[in-house]
Parts: sequence; C-alpha cells; structure tokens
Amino acid sequence: MITWHHAREDLSIHKGVWPPITGPTGLLRRTTTRVFIMSKVAIITGASSGIGRATAFSLSRDGWSIVLFARRLEKLQETQKMCEDPFKCFIVQGDVSSEEDVLRLFRETVEHFGRLDLLFNNAGVLPPELPIEDLPLSAFQNVVNINLTGVFLCTREAIKVFKSQSPQGGRIINNGSISAYTPRPHLSPYAATKHAVLGMTKSTSLEGRKYNIACTQVDIGNASSEMANGLHSAAVQQADGRLVQEPMIEAKYVADTITHIASLPLEVTVLTFNIMPTSIPMTSLIPLVQRGLRPTHVFRAARPACRTRVIHQTSVALKKHQKGAASEDDDLFGVAPEEDSLFGAGPASESTSSIDVTPTPTPSSSTGKDSVVRLNQYNELVQRLKDHTGSKPPPGGEQIPTSIWHHLFDLATTAEQLEQVADSFPRWRDKRRVFRPATAERFARRCEELHCPQLALKVFSDHSKYGLDLTLPAARRLLHALHQEHPLQDCIMLAALYRVYNLPPVSSDLVSCTLLVVACYTHPSPHARVVADEMVPHLRQLLESSKGPYTLKMTNGAPAEKEEKWMLRALYNVKAQLQKTGHEYRWLDKWMGNNLQAS
Ligand SMILES: NC(=O)c1ccc[n+]([C@@H]2O[C@H](COP(=O)([O-])OP(=O)(O)OC[C@H]3O[C@@H](n4cnc5c(N)ncnc54)[C@H](OP(=O)(O)O)[C@@H]3O)[C@@H](O)[C@H]2O)c1
Repeated sequence: MITWHHAREDLSIHKGVWPPITGPTGLLRRTTTRVFIMSKVAIITGASSGIGRATAFSLSRDGWSIVLFARRLEKLQETQKMCEDPFKCFIVQGDVSSEEDVLRLFRETVEHFGRLDLLFNNAGVLPPELPIEDLPLSAFQNVVNINLTGVFLCTREAIKVFKSQSPQGGRIINNGSISAYTPRPHLSPYAATKHAVLGMTKSTSLEGRKYNIACTQVDIGNASSEMANGLHSAAVQQADGRLVQEPMIEAKYVADTITHIASLPLEVTVLTFNIMPTSIPMTSLIPLVQRGLRPTHVFRAARPACRTRVIHQTSVALKKHQKGAASEDDDLFGVAPEEDSLFGAGPASESTSSIDVTPTPTPSSSTGKDSVVRLNQYNELVQRLKDHTGSKPPPGGEQIPTSIWHHLFDLATTAEQLEQVADSFPRWRDKRRVFRPATAERFARRCEELHCPQLALKVFSDHSKYGLDLTLPAARRLLHALHQEHPLQDCIMLAALYRVYNLPPVSSDLVSCTLLVVACYTHPSPHARVVADEMVPHLRQLLESSKGPYTLKMTNGAPAEKEEKWMLRALYNVKAQLQKTGHEYRWLDKWMGNNLQAS
C-alpha cells in the first residue's frame, strides 16, 4: 500500500531540485503547485466510464495519483469526484487516436506529477455489428485508430518517459479482450485490433525489459460497462450460431486485479491474464483451449481427469502432454506406475533389483489416473517400503528397486505425503542401500513443485539421518526454489551445504551464484545487500569467463537448459537491481549483448 501525503512544507527547501530526489522518507516529487511524497502516478486512457473509471477508483484507493484521459470532459469530472482524493486526479481531455492529444497528455502528466509509473491503455470502442463484406472502410479505420493506433501512441510516449526518468522504468497494462484470441461473429475490426494489441504487448514486454519496463495484457470477458452492456443488452450470437444470454461480472473485479498487478515490483510481470464470468458459455472458449491458451479453469473444465494435477498444468507440461512423448526427466508426471513392475506384476524378482525400473511416460494414463487410484498406489508403496526395508526386514523379503523413490515422489500430492516419503529414507540406508544421484535431484524438484523446499533443506542438512547426498543439480534446483520466496538464511544454509557435500563453492558456480545474488537483492535487509554487492564481482568474473551463446528458449526442458533459463532470468533481475541502486551495470548489458541469443 502506497501512502500519500500532501507535503505542505516550504517549497524552497527543494528549490531547483528536479528530477526527483531521494530522501529518508522516499521519493520527493516536486510539481509547480506542491510536493508529493511516495505516490505512484498512473495514466488511464478511457477513464470516463466502465473499466477505466473503476480502475481509477481502485488505484486511487490504493494511494495512486491518476491522470484521467478521455474525450468526454463531464464524464471525466464524474470519475474524478468518485476517486478517493480528487486532488490527486488530474484531467486531460483528448482523443487517444490524435497524436497531438497524446503528446499533450504525457507532457502535462510529467509537468503535473513529475513522473509516470503506470500507463493503462484502456480506451477502446466496438464497431457496428456487421459482416465483413458489409463493413464500411471508415468504420474499420475508426476502430483501428482508437484500439490500436491509440495504444501505439500512448505506449511510445510512455516508454520515452519511463526511459528518461529516475528511477528508470514503469509498467504498461494493455486492455485486450477474449477477442484477442477468439473473435465474436460480426465484430471483425474489434477482433483484429485486439489480436494486434497482443502483438504490441509482447513487443513492449520484449523491448521494455532493458529499461525496467514491464508490460501486461488483461483479457476481459463480459465486465459490466457502457460498451459491454450495449453488446449484452440482448442474447449474443455464439460461434455456433446459437443466441445466448451471457453472464456478466462487475468491472470492480477487473479493476482490483489491475491494481494488484500495478502494485507488483517492476522485476515481476504478468504477461497476460484473463478475467471473466465463471459460467461464460464454453463455445466461445473452445478456440482458446485449442490454441493452447488455457486459463486454468477452462482447462480443468475441458479435461476433468486433470483436476488432481493442478500443479502440472503449466504450458510446458501441457505441450509435452500434447506431444505425447517425454523423457523421464522431462515429465515427472508422465510416469505410469501402474505399468511398472512395482504394480500389478507381483513382487519384483531379485534380478530386477539391480536394474532400475525406469518409468515409461504414458501421458494418457498419467492424466487419467484418478486421485483414489493414486492414493492407493501411494499407500501400497509406502507399505511395501515399510515391509521390506529397515535394519531388520523379514527373511526372504522383496528386493525393492531404487526407482520406488521416483514413483513415490510422483505419487505424493502434498507436502505432508512427501515428508512421509522422506521419513522413510533412513530405512533405505539401514538396509545398506544407496540412493542414486538422480534421486536427489528428483526429490529437490518435487519439493519445489509441492512448495516445500524447506523439506529438502532439512533432508540434505541431516545426512547422517537421511543418507541422501546433495548433488549439484539438486543444489541448484533447491536454490532456485528458495531464492525468492523464502528467508535468506535458507539460501545461506544451502550455500554452506555446497562445501559439506564437496560441491564447487556457490561463488564459482554460475547458476548458483546468480540465484544467490538475486536472493540477497530480493531480501530487504541492508546486510543482504552488502552480501549481494560483494558477490557481484564474482558473478562478473564468472560471466566473463563463461562461454555463450545462451538462449532463453526451452527445448524439451532438459535440466541443463532449465538451469540456463533460471540463470538468464536471474541475470535480468540482477541488472534491474544494479540499475535501480545506481551501480555500474553496463558490463552486464555488454555480456548479455554478446552472449544471449534471441530465441
Ligand atoms: N467490458 C468488457 O467486457 C470488455 C471485454 C473485453 C475488453 N474490454 C476493453 O475494455 C476497454 C474499456 O471498455 P469498457 O468496457 O470499459 O467500455 P466503455 O465503458 O465504453 O469505456 C470505453 C472508454 O474508452 C474511451 N474512449 C473511446 N474512444 C476514445 C478515444 N478516441 N479517445 C479517448 N478515449 C476514448 C471512452 O471515453 P470517451 O467516450 O469519453 O472518449 C470510455 O471511457 C476497451 O478497450 C474494451 O475493448 C472490455
């Protein structure tokens, strides 16, 4: 929550200070009329009604200063009155498709508030509902001018401000639509412009990175507004020709979600998100599903068998699932224990014990498994471990293959179950069995997936009890899981374990070093910052001696590539931090320029 004060001190204290200076209370902003402290500034286009107005209200409640832009002055004044502090709302009347008006909007914003933190490209219109062959050119062009050229003009001017201000950067949120993916009948200019906005979002996101500019697209379906209420005043034609009265949601839910995204730190972005009534007709969403653009609930509704596997509904997992082929490391959940000799084929013979049962991924069976079967299999394996391992297994007992661990990791769906599995590790050691190095990585990976990396830390910190060796891939995986959302001391403890397990020190391993630097910058203590500053020269040395080119593209998710991806993401983070804190970062820019390959 950003706090807002009208500072009423004598302006002469800050006389001549422009651009803004940093004081003990944060940013002081000087304007011609007053000094503002710590208030972020947003421009909302199309703020005279609907989603723009609701967002103005929501942002103002969250302490933002807002510039309201649209053509209808009296409607903008109504919005201003609705806002938490009307004095923090500044009106600029104009047309988003006019270059002159947009230049004036940005000039007056900077003159009035001193900087810009957020642009919400929201202004938009619907065309008349006509088949393409009946549509006049002027109607098409009007929609292009407002929905697309307007977005371009505002984005261009915002980037100029974001680049030149200090601290550098800002966020742009583009208002797309479900029509950015799936058209409605007889609204072709709307679908075309909204598809194009998606291209602008991606381009802005790509080009903005190096200036700390984040870009998001919100794709709304049926939020109550002047535009939507007009369209939905009667039943709406569906792709299959049916007429359906569609449900609506209140614009405030959209607005509050936008406010949340606007409040995220700039190193975090949400590229696209979708918000709509839960019971919106499925026909309009099917193309969305076909394109692999699955809002989670759409995917769940379409494929009920996957309900128990929410964690794997990532785009990567879905792509693999579609391809129907993956390696063991690719897709932990492609494992099909029922086809393994551990299930259904009776106890494994002695000879199988020396040959691990390598699970064969069969996505259809894995996604089709229902939670009861999964739980039964989990319980069966846990029992089998109990019966046949430990220091005193029954005479003539079964020799369990080492792959049982991988099956158990796969079958565990909660942190508690995974902990129960880890509690069985000592029984393995008691039976003088050793874990394969891959087991450490699989365990760390599953801990990350089930959001319990601290369990892995506990296990690797107590080798005498659990007997699981920390390997470098496992250590990197664990550091990745811990580095942004967990207490810094966990990362530091893990760094110490590198030495205990004779791994290369964190400061000499590029992936680990980068992640740890980000962990230190992420944690708000001055000590953490000191550690980060000390590690940066090591990181620089490592980078300058490492051979590119690196690419951010993931191909089949092989572990090394995943690690590379983490590292590159983390490097962008490091760069943003160096920039933000006024440290030298051109060396990193140069390295990225020489070593990163466009994917
Ligand atoms: N509501 C939904 O369900 C829904 C779904 C998907 C996408 N969207 C998108 O959400 C955005 C806002 O729409 P809404 O639903 O809130 O409809 P709305 O209430 O009609 O708002 C449209 C806003 O755009 C402004 N605008 C239109 N042409 C403009 C121009 N040339 N220059 C400056 N401002 C202009 C309008 O203000 P003036 O007329 O005063 O200029 C108005 O404030 C649009 O981009 C729309 O495509 C909405």
